[in-house]
Amino acid sequence: MARWLLQILIISSLHLISLSSQKETRFVFEDFLDQEDLYLDASAKVHPNGILQLTNTSKYQIGHAFYDKPLELGSSFSTHFVCVLVKKQNIEGGHGIAFIVSPSMDFSHAQPTRYLGAFDASTLESPSSHVLAVELDTIWNPEFNDIKGKNHVGIDVNSPKSVAVAPASYYSDIERKNESMNLLSGEPIQVWIDYEGTVLNVSIAPLKVKKPSRPLLSHPISLSEIFPNISKLYVGFSASTGNAVSDQYIMWWSFSTDRGSLQRLDTSRLVELPYPTGTDKKLLALFIILFGCLAIVVSAILA
Ligand SMILES: *[C@@H]1O[C@H](CO)[C@@H](O)[C@H](O)[C@H]1NC(C)=O
Ligand SMILES: *[C@@H]1O[C@H](CO)[C@@H](O)[C@H](O)[C@H]1NC(C)=O
Ligand SMILES: *[C@@H]1O[C@H](CO)[C@@H](O)[C@H](O)[C@H]1NC(C)=O
Ligand SMILES: *[C@@H]1O[C@H](CO)[C@@H](O)[C@H](O)[C@H]1NC(C)=O
Repeated sequence: MARWLLQILIISSLHLISLSSQKETRFVFEDFLDQEDLYLDASAKVHPNGILQLTNTSKYQIGHAFYDKPLELGSSFSTHFVCVLVKKQNIEGGHGIAFIVSPSMDFSHAQPTRYLGAFDASTLESPSSHVLAVELDTIWNPEFNDIKGKNHVGIDVNSPKSVAVAPASYYSDIERKNESMNLLSGEPIQVWIDYEGTVLNVSIAPLKVKKPSRPLLSHPISLSEIFPNISKLYVGFSASTGNAVSDQYIMWWSFSTDRGSLQRLDTSRLVELPYPTGTDKKLLALFIILFGCLAIVVSAILA
C-alpha cells in the first residue's frame, strides 16, 4: 500500500516537473513604444503616442511588424489584437491587414496590393514559402476565393488563395444573430485567433463587444504540416496598399501559447487614434442629452 502511494507521489511530482519545464510564451503590447522586442520594416512605424502604423495612405506600400524572438509554437496558441483601418474620403480603401505565422521575418520579396505584403505574385506563394496568414481583406479578388462585397476575413496557407473565408461579421450573443461589420469604418476592430490541436478559430468584433461565443471561422489547420521540421516561428503583422489605400494601424496586441493566460484587453487604456474621431461622438452625445431633456419636458407637459 505504502509503495503504491510512493509510486503515485513520484509519478505525480515528475508530471509537475515536466509541466513546469514546458515553456509557455506570452507577451502583450499595450502600446508599441518599447521596441526592444519589435521588428519593423518598410512603411511600418510607431507614433509618439504608441500606436503602430503598418501603412499610410501612399500607394503600393508594405509594412511588417514582428515579435522579433522566434517562438516554439507547439499544439496551441492564442492571440487577441485591436486594429483600425482608415480610408480617405472618396478614395477606395485597401488592401488589408494580416496576422502572420512564419519561419522567417524576411518578406523582402513579398508584394503589396492583394498580396498583402505576405505573398509573392510570381509564385503565388510566400517568399519564405511557408506562411499562415489570417487576413482582414477589404478588396474583392475572386481569383483568391474572396467573397463578393469586399469586406472579408480569410485563412491563407502558403498562398493568398484563402482556404476559409467569411464576410466580415460577428455572432452577437445578445441579438443571437450575425452582425456585419465594415472593416473600413475607422473604428477599432478586435480580432481573436485561437489554435488548439487541429483547429484554427477566428473571430472579429467591435471594441464594445465581448468575444463572440461562436467563431466567424473555424477551420482544420495543422501547424506541424504547414511548417514541417520547423520548431521556431515568428508571429506578427503585414499590411499593404495599392491604388486602394488606407491608414492601417495596430493599437494593442496580446499573445500566448496558452489560451488561459492570454492577457485581457482593458479598453480604458487603449492608445489614442492619431486622427480626430471625438467630434462626431461628442455631437451625438449632445443630441442624446438634448433629446432626453426634450422628452422629459414633453412628458411633463402631457402629464
Ligand atoms: C507615407 O510615409 C512615407 C514615408 O514613410 C512618406 O514619404 C509619405 O509622404 C507618407 N504618405 C502620406 C500620405 O502621408
Ligand atoms: C473553436 O470553435 C469551435 C466551435 O465553436 C469550438 O468547439 C472549439 O472549442 C474552438 N477552439 C478553440 C481553440 O477556440
Ligand atoms: C453566421 O455566420 C457564420 C460564419 O459566416 C455562418 O456559418 C452562419 O451560418 C451564420 N449564421 C446565420 C444565422 O446567418
Ligand atoms: C523532415 O525531417 C525528416 C527527418 O529528419 C526527413 O525525413 C523529412 O524529409 C523532412 N521533411 C521535410 C519536409 O523537410
